[in-house]
Amino acid sequence: QGVRVKVPASTANLGPGFDTLGMALSLYSWIEMKASERTVFHLHGDEMGGLPKDKSNLIYKVAQMVFEEAGQAVPELEISMYSEIPLTRGLGSSASAIVGALAAANALIGSPLPDSKLFDMATNLEKHPDNVGASLFGGIITAVWDGTHADYMRIEPPANLGTLVVIPHFELATSKAREALPAQVSLADAVYNISRSSLMAAALSAGRLDLIRTAMKDRVHQPYRAPLVPGMSKILDEAPDHGALGIALSGAGPAMIALVDRDEPRVQELSAYLVETMKAEGIVSS
Ligand code: HSE
Repeated sequence: QGVRVKVPASTANLGPGFDTLGMALSLYSWIEMKASERTVFHLHGDEMGGLPKDKSNLIYKVAQMVFEEAGQAVPELEISMYSEIPLTRGLGSSASAIVGALAAANALIGSPLPDSKLFDMATNLEKHPDNVGASLFGGIITAVWDGTHADYMRIEPPANLGTLVVIPHFELATSKAREALPAQVSLADAVYNISRSSLMAAALSAGRLDLIRTAMKDRVHQPYRAPLVPGMSKILDEAPDHGALGIALSGAGPAMIALVDRDEPRVQELSAYLVETMKAEGIVSS
């Protein structure tokens, strides 16, 4: 008897909430898992071609961690995966694979591990809780990780909140985008981000979309990552004047995510502005 899980992609940070805020997106991966005579993989989807089909596969390894933690051995697995989440673009593809593997493996053995345990395991693998938290719990999360254990609050997204994600044609490894960050930031920049991240979480909880423009700004990571994504600074500055409530680099990039009011009449204009600007910068090809 096998199991099947559906896991959402995610966007991390939402501007000021570096390694803190995350939001699930309506873009998915599916993982099927069942005990088998020998381990085999069926990987479907454009992005799956380069992934290993042996026991070095992340899904297999993560599943074994669940079985070990639960004290139940299932050494051989038949694993199928289909994903529509683009890899290495800042949309949480690795987090969704980790969460999918944890959830599927746990379900396969009767769900002995609580979600809080899966969240800790996922965060310890990813080293930040924002993407995995959003993929595991859905909606919007604000999370804290102490290096071992992660705590979170889930926020139900406001009914009128929509998103527009723009995805450059190039890949950007999270490790590279993290290497661009300074080891220290000034107290003024820390206050800038803490105040906005707190406002962002409160505004999203209360459905105060009018506060997003002020709240969704950042001085802790985006300015340092800007040289890695041509046109990003210009887009972050200008998009709110074309109808975005706010806009940010999605996770470590290079995708960018605009938040919009579903009743905003200028959404088409915003979309055209984003695509034209990205084309002019040479970061989308068509
Ligand atoms: N918070 C992480 C970062 C997300 O910005 O590096 C990476 O997907």
